[in-house]
Amino acid sequence: MTHAAPYPPFSLPTRELAVTVGELPDGIDATAHIVFSGEQPPAASGISAERAASLGFDAAVGKTLVLVGAEGPLTVLVGGGDREKADTTVLRDVVSHFARAVPGQDRLAVVLPQTSTSVADTVVAAIEGAALARYVYRIGEDGPDAKLSALALVCDEGAVAEAEAAVARGLLLVKATKLARDLAGTPGGMLTATKLGEIALEMGPDAGLEVQVFGEEELVELGCGGLLGINLGSVEPPAMIKLVYRPEGEPTGKLALVGKGIMYDAGGLALKPGDEVHAVMKNDMAGAGAILAAMTVLKDLGCQAQVTGYLMCTDNMPSGSALRLGDIVVMRGGKTVEVINTDAEGRMVMGDALVLATEEPVDAIVDIATLTGAALRTLGTDIAAVLGNNEALMNQVKASAERVDEPVWELPLANRYRPELDSTLADLRNMGGANAGTITAALFLQEFVAGKPWVHIDIAGTAQSWTASKWRNKGTTGFGTRLLIDLALNFKA
Ligand code: BES
Ligand code: ZN
Ligand code: MN
Repeated sequence: MTHAAPYPPFSLPTRELAVTVGELPDGIDATAHIVFSGEQPPAASGISAERAASLGFDAAVGKTLVLVGAEGPLTVLVGGGDREKADTTVLRDVVSHFARAVPGQDRLAVVLPQTSTSVADTVVAAIEGAALARYVYRIGEDGPDAKLSALALVCDEGAVAEAEAAVARGLLLVKATKLARDLAGTPGGMLTATKLGEIALEMGPDAGLEVQVFGEEELVELGCGGLLGINLGSVEPPAMIKLVYRPEGEPTGKLALVGKGIMYDAGGLALKPGDEVHAVMKNDMAGAGAILAAMTVLKDLGCQAQVTGYLMCTDNMPSGSALRLGDIVVMRGGKTVEVINTDAEGRMVMGDALVLATEEPVDAIVDIATLTGAALRTLGTDIAAVLGNNEALMNQVKASAERVDEPVWELPLANRYRPELDSTLADLRNMGGANAGTITAALFLQEFVAGKPWVHIDIAGTAQSWTASKWRNKGTTGFGTRLLIDLALNFKA
């Protein structure tokens, strides 16, 4: 029997952010002046260093002082730290502190500082800092804390051309990150695997992507036993969404991206307890969402690499038809897996896609998944775990992570723990022992990459934030989206 869905209607919010460059326009609500350590507030701010200090302001990053006149826009002093240390991460943070210091002000201006960071990168960092700090996913209309309709970047005449040329890049990076936040934030009942497939089909053509959605029958034909097995307990059909981006001309390399798309992770028959963490298991498709979001902007950003995305989508539900603990499934490529725990479902759906990725010409495979609670325990909510079998590819991932401030930390792909995955009945068990869960999960995935250069990004900790800080907001973060974009744009085979 089917039931009427009690959910709100599904729609992705649309938001317009108008970015201008050059002189300060009329109609601005608040203007930021960035003050660096040991320097005076700019004359335009109308306040002396002494008075600012007496009001508790200093130039440390994170400090802000809002000056309220009888009328007119707010003037905000924003700490910039040492001018020499103002890289894109610092500049992004500084602008995010400004955006948070004036909640409810909808039209912001930032006087762009001169630092060793290029004008273009300063512009991108400012757009990211303001827009990502402001954005909160919500069903329906954006709340007042999320509003940002205009951002004026104030700079000298001489910098206008370079600044203008960078605006589109900043807006695309923000657009993709917001989409990833929206997708991961949408409850599992509203955003099903089928629905995500429809969204991909809808967005594909404009983004220059070939989109194919594989349903249950096709997955049977492909032998994707991992995805089919995890889907057994669900009344919602599974979907594998394949996205292909082909640059004009000879690609600089071929990159495959594999994303975990568990629309909701109840744990299957190994049902999760009803605590806070598990109430956010709608975000268990954050990896797949980050890939879709990233791939929608590759064309507009002029990506020269060929990128193929595999999004492995289903929910993981308990029911009379669900996969049992102890069942054995046959994965794509023929390996058998003994299912010790149905809550270790991510690696099952990912295994099929990793095999598919190795079957086409590919220079590197990067997968991204909210895979293990152990990654959250080990590195917290700010840093993702990375593991891989190829140093050059790992270095590219680390460099991208650094540039976009989506920090990663490498854990060892320690083969000494591989025996924990040995099964007496099948080729593999789907979980290792009680410890080093992030490592044993990665060792499981490694079994499916056929020795191809591969890096695994575990975003179980970073997909969600419980505090609003810097570019992150409370809720889904979109972590990984800008990292993957940067990786694709700079990819070297
Ligand atoms: N989606 C979870 C991982 C997760 C846990 C993400 C907490 C964010 C917060 C994953 O499917 C899972 O349940 N993993 C298990 C694996 C275990 C059963 C081997 C885990 O980490 O406990
Ligand atoms: Zn999961
Ligand atoms: Mn699980």
